[in-house]
Amino acid sequence: KSAGFILLICTLFGCEAAQVERHDVRKFPEGFQFGTSTASYQIEGSWNVDGKAENIWDHMTHNNPCVIADCSNGDVACDSYNQYKRDVEMMRELGIDFYRFSLSWPRILPTSFPDYISEPGSQYYSNLIDELLKYNIEPVVTLYHWDLPQKLQEMGGWTNPHIVDWFADYARVAFTLYGDRVKHWITINEPREVCYQGYGANTKAPALNIKGVADYMCVKNLLLAHAKAYHIFDQEFRPKLNGSIFIALSAQFYEPETEKEIVAAKEANQFEWGIYAHPIFSDTGDYPPIVKEKVAAKSAEQGFFRSRLPEFTPEEVDYVKGTSDYFGLNHYTTFLVYRNESVAGMYDVPSMYDDLGNVHYQPSEWEYGAASVNMRVVPWGFYKLLALIREDFNNPPVFITENGYATFTGLDDTSTRISYLRQYLSALLDAIDEGSDVRAYSLWSLMDNFEWMFGYNSRFGLYEVNFSDPARPRTPRKSAFMYKQMLRTRALDW
Ligand code: NOJ
Repeated sequence: KSAGFILLICTLFGCEAAQVERHDVRKFPEGFQFGTSTASYQIEGSWNVDGKAENIWDHMTHNNPCVIADCSNGDVACDSYNQYKRDVEMMRELGIDFYRFSLSWPRILPTSFPDYISEPGSQYYSNLIDELLKYNIEPVVTLYHWDLPQKLQEMGGWTNPHIVDWFADYARVAFTLYGDRVKHWITINEPREVCYQGYGANTKAPALNIKGVADYMCVKNLLLAHAKAYHIFDQEFRPKLNGSIFIALSAQFYEPETEKEIVAAKEANQFEWGIYAHPIFSDTGDYPPIVKEKVAAKSAEQGFFRSRLPEFTPEEVDYVKGTSDYFGLNHYTTFLVYRNESVAGMYDVPSMYDDLGNVHYQPSEWEYGAASVNMRVVPWGFYKLLALIREDFNNPPVFITENGYATFTGLDDTSTRISYLRQYLSALLDAIDEGSDVRAYSLWSLMDNFEWMFGYNSRFGLYEVNFSDPARPRTPRKSAFMYKQMLRTRALDW
């Protein structure tokens, strides 16, 4: 088998590739870990198999199919519910240290609650975990990567404060089922997308679009739910199991357009991701002061009797503070920011501009990035973001839970994904040289999958998946060989 693999590399790159003169080789630190990431709804399919209940993405895509660019859904996706062994085989081909995947809440708990645990649903993850461990691949498990049980959404989802307990119960079930084998847990993936896009806008399920109100209700409940899962793990499971638990925040970087815009950029970073990071990672806890003050003042101006951003009590501030063993970071790109107060509408959602009217954009001369989204290639933004995290939060250990590049269909990604990865990993090494404590890097994604509102047109995979073939065959792209080579040498070279 390995002979076949070498042959394939030779065919793709030419065997001389191995002898190319290396003019720059940069080693990753001792113990640095590499992996790839996926998420349940994006890869599993089998949406109603073995008693799995509906989640908010099943519900939205079935009721309004063309809300997705190609009118598709995750009913079959990569068929990983049936093909997890092939997935693990791909990881072995790559030689990764860990695999970050997520659990589907309504697959394990079809009623949403712990009164009934699905045998086949929970067994699926157990089998996957065993298969990974058989080959020394460490499972890193995300509890919530956006596929909320639809039943819970009907009761308000993340805007209902009871979700703190619903999520905690689900987390406890997962720790009990898999804690003997899973040491590393991620509570929630990308709160920004969950709250701002799902509740404040209509660009993710449940597409509630209640701007400046539902999104902020979600922020508070989500942070408390995360904290509760952390405390359960910390008190009841960590003593027996060891391991770690953390949150994965999406943080793009916001750079001032000119010197005049330094404040606007600071505020953009705070509204976009500081609102989640500050309560957990800062010494004082609570929301960033600027966010609290501005939303409260604006709410009063608008005639609200209290801030649209629900406050934390002092007890809650303490409860949330310090509840993440790593700064889990999903990072893809950077924006320039300038202030234009006239666009700070009544309930502006922080997507292209925030509550204050800070406008974000990407200049057209920046290298074009991912298919159909604002994802230009800006490696210096990654470097600056890591520096900001180091400075603002006492240099926490950082786990890059996602970074990657999307292409359209096709196998040759040499000048795109490979170039992106080299530039971003080099920026990461620069940040480490400056003192950032980055411990791990997980590439999004192992294979092409259902890219939410973009459907199957936006392809992030090291492996291409053929979605027209019912067997969903997977084929390595050139970036897969690049990643494999880097993993083997633990160095970036070109
Ligand atoms: C963010 C999300 O966590 C993941 O689900 C998504 O596919 C990638 N980034 C790429 O957009």
